[in-house]
Amino acid sequence: MEAGFDSPWRCMDFQGLIRPVSKKDISDIKDIYAQFYTNPEDLTHFLDRVEEVINHSSDAIKWDFHYFVAEDEGEVVGVIGYRIPPQKLIDFTKTPKPLELYSLFVRNPKLGVGRKLIEKILEEAKKSNYTEMVLYSSDKWKVSWPFYDRMGFERAGILTHTSGSSGQVWRKDITNS
Ligand SMILES: CC(C)(COP(=O)(O)OP(=O)(O)OC[C@H]1O[C@@H](n2cnc3c(N)ncnc32)[C@H](O)[C@@H]1OP(=O)(O)O)[C@@H](O)C(=O)NCCC(=O)NCCS
Repeated sequence: MEAGFDSPWRCMDFQGLIRPVSKKDISDIKDIYAQFYTNPEDLTHFLDRVEEVINHSSDAIKWDFHYFVAEDEGEVVGVIGYRIPPQKLIDFTKTPKPLELYSLFVRNPKLGVGRKLIEKILEEAKKSNYTEMVLYSSDKWKVSWPFYDRMGFERAGILTHTSGSSGQVWRKDITNS
């Protein structure tokens, strides 16, 4: 039996490395994103964000944009980003200096990788005196929503875009965590 979303056992404690993204990771990240983004435009869009961070683009610096990867035996098995949130997410926050968890994907679920990536960016955010983490997850990722509840995020409301698409917003204070 594979360790799918509905498997009964507690997830494993990931023992690999969590580190900032680097240029050599792009190909592994592309493979992970391609598992989830079947539309080539989406795939390019999200890979471009990663490249911008690696290349220290002016936008990446302006938005304090960073990515971390989980590495296991030389292979990237998960990726997470964070940045200063856009106004539509700031509207859901409660503290003065929020960050946005932007894009979290793992190669294989329920091996403890997502938890370790979130713990790492919360630690980084705290070091930089951010006060809160907010995130948006569109309806298409609904299957992952209980994961964010499990990670201690609280549901802050539904965000509906002008296009009509919508999703769930979460927030988590990081001042006392
Ligand atoms: C959602 C995702 C990031 C979670 O990462 P993960 O590595 O599978 O999660 P972990 O193994 O670290 O799980 C941590 C805890 O959450 C639980 N959990 C993980 N995914 C879950 C899910 N879909 N539903 C319910 N619980 C879940 C685990 O059982 C574990 O529980 P525990 O505290 O009892 O051990 C990952 O499964 C993924 O990439 N999914 C597909 C893409 C996606 O939906 N990304 C989010 C877009 S917003």
